[in-house]
Amino acid sequence: MENLTGKAISVIGLGVVGLTTAVGFALKGHRVTGIDIVPEKVMKIANGVNPTYEKELTEALRRVKINATTDFHHVLGSDISFLCVGTPDNADGSIDLRYVKGAAEQLAQLLMEKGTSHLVVVRSTVVPGTTEKIVAPCFKDLPEVGVCVNPEFLQEGTALEDFLTPSRIVIGEDGRRWGDMLLDLYNGTADSSSVLRTDLRTAEMIKYASNAFLATKVSFINEIGNICKELGIDVYEVARGMGHDNRIGKDFLKAGIGFGGFCLPKDTAALMMKGKETGYTPKILQEVLQLNREQPLRMLELLKIHIPSLSNKVIGILGLAFKPGTDDIRESRAIPVVEALLKEGARVRAFDSQAMPNFQKLFPQIEYCGVDEVLASDATLIVTAWDEFNRLDYSNSIVIDGRRIDAAKRAQIYEGVCW
Ligand SMILES: NC(=O)c1ccc[n+]([C@@H]2O[C@H](COP(=O)([O-])OP(=O)(O)OC[C@H]3O[C@@H](n4cnc5c(N)ncnc54)[C@H](O)[C@@H]3O)[C@@H](O)[C@H]2O)c1
Repeated sequence: MENLTGKAISVIGLGVVGLTTAVGFALKGHRVTGIDIVPEKVMKIANGVNPTYEKELTEALRRVKINATTDFHHVLGSDISFLCVGTPDNADGSIDLRYVKGAAEQLAQLLMEKGTSHLVVVRSTVVPGTTEKIVAPCFKDLPEVGVCVNPEFLQEGTALEDFLTPSRIVIGEDGRRWGDMLLDLYNGTADSSSVLRTDLRTAEMIKYASNAFLATKVSFINEIGNICKELGIDVYEVARGMGHDNRIGKDFLKAGIGFGGFCLPKDTAALMMKGKETGYTPKILQEVLQLNREQPLRMLELLKIHIPSLSNKVIGILGLAFKPGTDDIRESRAIPVVEALLKEGARVRAFDSQAMPNFQKLFPQIEYCGVDEVLASDATLIVTAWDEFNRLDYSNSIVIDGRRIDAAKRAQIYEGVCW
């Protein structure tokens, strides 16, 4: 039954973040309209079908009602709009704000018709200063429109859970009234100690600094792992020892072939470019990204110790998604690995329980098959840490492991990238 005390919300952009925001607020009893420009996506969501693989979100979407539409006019039936459109990177790594700007302009046009108060919330990840300089000016002639920044910290694979039990809620506000209105939506989601209220650009920076720090942690442990490998030390034991120190923390210390996805690589690059724009060259971030580019290629170096020429050799890949629990392949480490293998003349066959259709669009020339065929290759490379890879029999295979899959250690020949 509809909760009449809930607020009317519109969510613009129904990717992972938009759909999670829409479903999350619907679960909290708000009335949610979701708007996207891709009709097929909207059609699926309107029918309760999640266009991406995200387990809990998929199940929740069947239980809630989202009014999904391509018609922007439905914004007029809401009081708060969340901008959740994509912020991809330009070729030089800087942020491409065209979708944010486009959606804000479209919204402003419509809100001129509305005439009553409305809150616009920037939830997309945007570099500091964007909301003040690009979004807010669209509404400058609309005094009854307020703007807030409310970054999303979800991780793909556990998106809905992260929304419902967030580590913190960051509210960037330009006026207390608007921040209060936004906070009200979250009723009971977080205790007051994990709510941070800041100005607009600080909220934007918190998101970037958080992602850049996580990226740094991953590249750091990979660097330690690369040294450990040479010294015959198990970097996972080292990380366990480090993680006991609360100042360090145990998360994000899994050495391997680096980070991918739509957040860490592009956000770290965008922050680096923003720094450069101010005249300061961020040195740590530069190295974090460089190490992350090199790390997956270590798999080929290790492979060539056992198979010096890859020409015409059949190389199997286990895992194509950028992480387990998703079918998202954006910036997946599988991409540079497959590219490098093809360049060496190898024949590549691959398996991923969820991400094969997406990967096939990018690499139609490789073979997609089951795990048995992958394991029957001349060598197998483990690229994504899907749980199911821990239940396979590797005993007849040469395995190069990028993700520390314990069962693979029983392979005929086994090499871990950092251990
Ligand atoms: N994916 C993540 O894990 C994650 C986590 C936190 C923050 N973010 C940030 O959130 C934002 C969205 O990420 P995502 O992964 O959901 O992106 P996405 O590219 O998967 O989805 C964006 C959606 O916006 C739609 N869109 C574009 N222009 C539109 C318009 N004018 N009107 C309506 N819809 C429009 C697109 O069709 C697409 O469906 C990005 O800024 C990203 O950096 C992502």
